[in-house]
Amino acid sequence: MPKVLIEKLDDFGRGLAHINNKIIFVTNALPKEEVEIKIINDKKSFSEAKVTKYLKLSKNRVESICPYFETCGGCNLLNLNYENNLMFKQNKIKNLLKKNKINYDKEIEIIKNDNPLYYRNKVSLKIENGKLGYYEKNSHRLIKIKECIIAKHSINEVIKNYKLLNLENAKLTIRSNYNDEILIIIKTNEKEYNIELAKLKEKVRLVGIIYNNVTIYGENFFYERINGKLFKVSYNSFFQINECITSKLFDLIKNNIDKDSTILDLYSGVGTLGIVASSKSKEVYSIEIIKNAVLNGILNAKLNKVNNIKFMLGDVSKLINKVNLEFDTLIIDPPRKGLDKKTREYILKKLPTKIIYVSCDPNTLIRDLKEFESIYKIDDFKIMDMFSYTYHVESFCVLKRK
Ligand SMILES: C[S@@+](CC[C@H](N)C(=O)[O-])C[C@H]1O[C@@H](n2cnc3c(N)ncnc32)[C@H](O)[C@@H]1O
Repeated sequence: MPKVLIEKLDDFGRGLAHINNKIIFVTNALPKEEVEIKIINDKKSFSEAKVTKYLKLSKNRVESICPYFETCGGCNLLNLNYENNLMFKQNKIKNLLKKNKINYDKEIEIIKNDNPLYYRNKVSLKIENGKLGYYEKNSHRLIKIKECIIAKHSINEVIKNYKLLNLENAKLTIRSNYNDEILIIIKTNEKEYNIELAKLKEKVRLVGIIYNNVTIYGENFFYERINGKLFKVSYNSFFQINECITSKLFDLIKNNIDKDSTILDLYSGVGTLGIVASSKSKEVYSIEIIKNAVLNGILNAKLNKVNNIKFMLGDVSKLINKVNLEFDTLIIDPPRKGLDKKTREYILKKLPTKIIYVSCDPNTLIRDLKEFESIYKIDDFKIMDMFSYTYHVESFCVLKRK
C-alpha cells in the first residue's frame, strides 16, 4: 500500500496528497497526517483513495461521533475539531479571493454556530425497500441510518419512528420549526398509504403530512419565529436551515441597512430579509419565484405589522426588466447558481449604492463579485457557519459603490 503525507484539504474537505506529481484525493484524511492508502478510482490526472492505515494523526483530529461518517454523504468534516472546521472555511474563501485576484484587505470574520450539532431544521432522506438513509458519498447506494447528528432532535424522532410511515420506496423530507413542530413531505410512486398516525403523533409534534403534493393530514405549513418575528412557511417555501445563524443573519441585515433607504430584495423566499430590513427603510420590493413563498411573504408582512413592503411573483431575471423600480440598496440571496447574466447586467445598469449579497456557494459568489469589482468595493466579508461540519460555506458580503 502506498504511503502519503496529506498536504492540505481540498474544497470538499478531502485530504490532498501527491504520488509522483499526481494529485491524490484521500477521504477522511487531515493535513499533516501520514497514511497508507488504497486507490479506489484511478483517473488520468488524479486518483481518489481511502485510508487503510493511519501512521501519524493530526492533533486537530477528533473522533467522529457519527457511526456513519466514513460512508454517508451528509457531512464532510466531523473528524476535525470545530475551530479548524471554521479555519478550513476561512482558508477556502481566502484562496478563492486570491485566485480570482479580488482585493479584500480586512480579516474575514467568522460567525460561529452556537450549536454546531443537531442544528438542521430540514433533511431529505431516501426510503428504499423499506430502509431509511442517505446516499453514500458520490453514489446512489443507500446508507441506512438510525440518527443524523446534524439534524434537530425533533427530526431525529421522526427518523427513529419512520417505520410508522409504512413506506417501501420514497423520498422523505422532514422539516421542523422553532417549536419542534414537524412537517413530513413524501414523494413516492406508491399510490396507497397506510401511515400509523395515532402512534406517530404520540412521538412527534406533527403539524402536517404532504403526500405527493396533497395534504393528507393537518396543515401544509408551519410558523417560524426568529428574533421575535413570525413567519408562515409553506411546505415548499424556502427557509434558512439553521436557526442560530439565521438569527445572526437577521441582525447583520438590520445593522447594514441605512435609514430611509429604498430596497430591492431579490430571491426573497417568505419575505424574511425584506421584513427585517423594512423597519429602517422607506420602501422594500421583494421578488420570488415560488408562489406559496410570495403568498407567505404577503401574510408575513401583516403578521409583523410591516406595511412598506411589496411582493412580486416571478423569475428575477425576467421580472426586473419589466417593472420599473428605483432603489438604492439591493439585497440578494440567490440559490447556489448565483446571479445569471441578465441579473448582473441589470445591477450594473441600476448601480445601487449598496449591495448586500448573502450566498450559499462561494464559487458563484466570487464569480459575481468579479463582475462588480470595477464599480464596487467589498466593505465587509463574513463567513456564517450555516452548514456546520460540511464543506458548504455561507457568506455575507456588503459591497459599496466606489
Ligand atoms: C437561498 S433562498 C433565500 C430566501 C430568503 N432570502 C431567505 O433568507 O429565506 C433563494 C430563494 O430564491 C428563490 N428563487 C430561485 N430561483 C429564482 C428565480 N429565478 N427568481 C426568483 N426567485 C428565485 C427560491 O425559491 C428561494 O426562495
